[in-house]
Amino acid sequence: MTQKHTFGERVVVVEHPMVQHKLSLLRDKTTPSKQFRELVRELALFEGYEATRDLPLTDCKVETPLCTAHCKTLQGKKLAIVPILRAGLGMVEGMLELMPAAKVGHLGMYRDETTHEPHEYYAKMPEDIASRDVLVVDPMLATGGSATAALSYLRKQGVKNIKLAVIVAAPEGIQAVLEHDPAVTIFTCAIDDGMNSDCYIMPGLGDAGDRIFGTK
Ligand code: URA
Repeated sequence: MTQKHTFGERVVVVEHPMVQHKLSLLRDKTTPSKQFRELVRELALFEGYEATRDLPLTDCKVETPLCTAHCKTLQGKKLAIVPILRAGLGMVEGMLELMPAAKVGHLGMYRDETTHEPHEYYAKMPEDIASRDVLVVDPMLATGGSATAALSYLRKQGVKNIKLAVIVAAPEGIQAVLEHDPAVTIFTCAIDDGMNSDCYIMPGLGDAGDRIFGTK
């Protein structure tokens, strides 16, 4: 497993030591659900921090107790967080801590048993989704099937600026997303070795949804 990658500027690996430490705890099979959830929330917050680095600022003046300070303030770009159900839900709280004014849209995907194609079974977006910058969140980017379906859905809604934040990515999933959508940027804490025959990321962390919700 290596953090060096050749995917170019559209893939950002969050290499901060705190992130890598928390990710190791997350991977550990003995980490209980409660701690797993907390770690996912914290990692989402760190990723949100990286993914919002390019938010535009505007000049402002602030009266300190001593004089006028020339400062910067967020221009107030409208944001939306879109978790892919169900594991993506685990990342929402951390993202909202960082951007409390963001709206949240939900997107549910299922995989067709015969075609193996992902289809949306649930979608509830903020009314003005087309005019928002969207952060799609899902802890695991494996084959890229759900992520590419989510991107297609959001592009159809007219969304222009989309970022995808995952915690662990397989190279195959990254490739699929980059090829599918020429404008998306991916944020991840790690790029793993690949997938096993059941499409689990290796070494990965197991089933993120099951570990977040304690269903296994
Ligand atoms: N989804 C998961 O939860 N884990 C994987 O390894 C791959 C997809």
